[in-house]
Amino acid sequence: MAMTSGSPAMFGTAGPAAHQIAVLGWVLTIISLAVLLVVSLILLVALFRQRAARADQPESVVIRPNGSIRLIVWGGIVVPAIILICALLFTLFVQSAVATPPATPVATIRIVGHRWWWQVIYTAQSPDQQVVTANEIHVPVGQPVRLELVSADVVHSFWVPKLAGKTDVIPGQQNTMWMQADKPGIYWGECAEYCGLQHTHMDLLVVAQSPADFRHWLDQQRQPPPPPTDPVTATGERVFTRQACAACHTVGGTPAMGTIGPDLTHIASRRTIAAGTLPNTPGNLAGWIANAQGIKPGNDMPTMSLPPGDLQALVAWLETLQ
Ligand code: CUA
Repeated sequence: MAMTSGSPAMFGTAGPAAHQIAVLGWVLTIISLAVLLVVSLILLVALFRQRAARADQPESVVIRPNGSIRLIVWGGIVVPAIILICALLFTLFVQSAVATPPATPVATIRIVGHRWWWQVIYTAQSPDQQVVTANEIHVPVGQPVRLELVSADVVHSFWVPKLAGKTDVIPGQQNTMWMQADKPGIYWGECAEYCGLQHTHMDLLVVAQSPADFRHWLDQQRQPPPPPTDPVTATGERVFTRQACAACHTVGGTPAMGTIGPDLTHIASRRTIAAGTLPNTPGNLAGWIANAQGIKPGNDMPTMSLPPGDLQALVAWLETLQ
């Protein structure tokens, strides 16, 4: 996606868990290549020796039983067993190292996989302190966060390659993992388990910011958006709360309390819409409302045929939901 910068996913890791997994990946790759190289060389040597021996003595078959047995025992059993045991031990070591965060997590974020978007809930002691957003996870730099992963429908898989490994998101079961970003930035993530027609349009962004900026963001997300201040945005709010929109979406401070689709209380503060499918611009928002089924066929958002004035007012109001 154009909005994320830097090297391709998986390379250029930016968090401790992803870094350790990358080291494991490289070590196993190098071991595999070394084994392939040695076996290929032995094969070539054997082929050429056999050929040379045959050229010298066409009638005799060159077999040296003792040498062959020693080669089979060492090359076929002892050395492979040592290599595989070392690879297994290193894998187990990395797995156990990655299981524990480097410090106590500073926040717990509940992530609910839906076909085809991510609901993101910052849990808090009191319900009014809870923050609900979608497809964009803000985290403080240099501090681990704990993730609780659940699914509302089918099996998904949560994966932010530069920050941590994949974890399955399974209906009826809560999986947990932790994640930490060491550098501020925007990290792209995706669903990594085929979950239906729009699996490929189930992306998310992790926005890593300084702890102060993160606190500020969290405080701002807790506030209801400002009420409309002009006739156009007032019309927009009316369209939203009286049309089908309010049946599926919540906007804090309004009667809209639907829970089928993403919470839109602060939609204007997000970078993408439709789970990373489109950059969040007024034009894309209008296009999405008018033709969600054309953009992402099969998703739960119906195509809304609104009069042009209503659509314009609706988009103008949504743009105020900072
Ligand atoms: Cu969710 Cu693939």
